[in-house]
Amino acid sequence: MSLTATPLGKDLTGLEPLSADQIRVILDTAEPFKEITARRVKKVPMLRGKTIVNLFFEASTRTRISFEFAEKRLSADTVNIGAVGSSVSKGETLVDTARNLEAMSIDMVVIRHWSAGAAAFLAARIPSNVINAGDGAHEHPTQGLLDILTLRDHFGALEGLRVCIVGDVLHSRVARSNIYGLVKLGAEVGVCGPRTLLPAAIEELGVTVFGHVEEAIEWADALNVLRLQLERMQDGFVPSLREYNRVFGITRQRLERAPGRLLILHPGPMNRGVEIDSDVADGPHSVILQQVTNGVAIRMSVLYLLAGGAPHLAGAASSP
Ligand code: CP
Repeated sequence: MSLTATPLGKDLTGLEPLSADQIRVILDTAEPFKEITARRVKKVPMLRGKTIVNLFFEASTRTRISFEFAEKRLSADTVNIGAVGSSVSKGETLVDTARNLEAMSIDMVVIRHWSAGAAAFLAARIPSNVINAGDGAHEHPTQGLLDILTLRDHFGALEGLRVCIVGDVLHSRVARSNIYGLVKLGAEVGVCGPRTLLPAAIEELGVTVFGHVEEAIEWADALNVLRLQLERMQDGFVPSLREYNRVFGITRQRLERAPGRLLILHPGPMNRGVEIDSDVADGPHSVILQQVTNGVAIRMSVLYLLAGGAPHLAGAASSP
């Protein structure tokens, strides 16, 4: 259990509750951790003795493995629990599951859950630090942070940068975290997609809406291309996948018409040939795998800060 005052407070449930300064602290603290992830021996003792539970109630490749790498590289002890194979499958509630884990003296819980608000719900009920690894269509804060770090790597300043989020914004927790974070840091944010896949009143979050992807490409410095959430498409949000690709797909032909160099991000997993073509995903504009690399450093930063680590000591303490 951890009640230490940290620059982030007790938990990371989203980017909406954070200030611009808190977001900057996470990004800056990630910088020395990038260096550690590039070393031959990728291990530092900062979280030695801490026990972290990764509670993933939904499928994940990148986020789950990235958190586990981050925890192990900080020398924490980790346990992974999924809905399948745990007593959740017998009907045990989230809070009962967490309280039983608390009874075994844990320090942090990383949670992915299908319900919006699940991480905040848990954070209010257990003394351990809680980190949201994606809750329904609400937020995915570490994905938003790693996207922003990748943008900062390429453009330096975020202020005035034009980032357009393209695709299924309606179902996307990644979109919300990006919007909250980027707007706080002074970027201009656009969204583009079929009206059926844009939340009503999305403009109230401070974004510009584009109905045509060509306009978005002309306007933006970077596109963050979202996965079309095929599992939610039974309600007829788009006429067909082929039609979606024809009208909103990020293709090489469309990128060739961009006025300048356009950076392409995608949080993964990708539907190649639907929201993004392979020659774009694997092409020179793409930083998709750099996002994944940055994800480990961002998660190390968040874990370190929530454990009470001092931002200015991250670099010093990381020396081999
Ligand atoms: N970006 C992301 O959340 O991917 P996973 O679902 O594989 O974790």
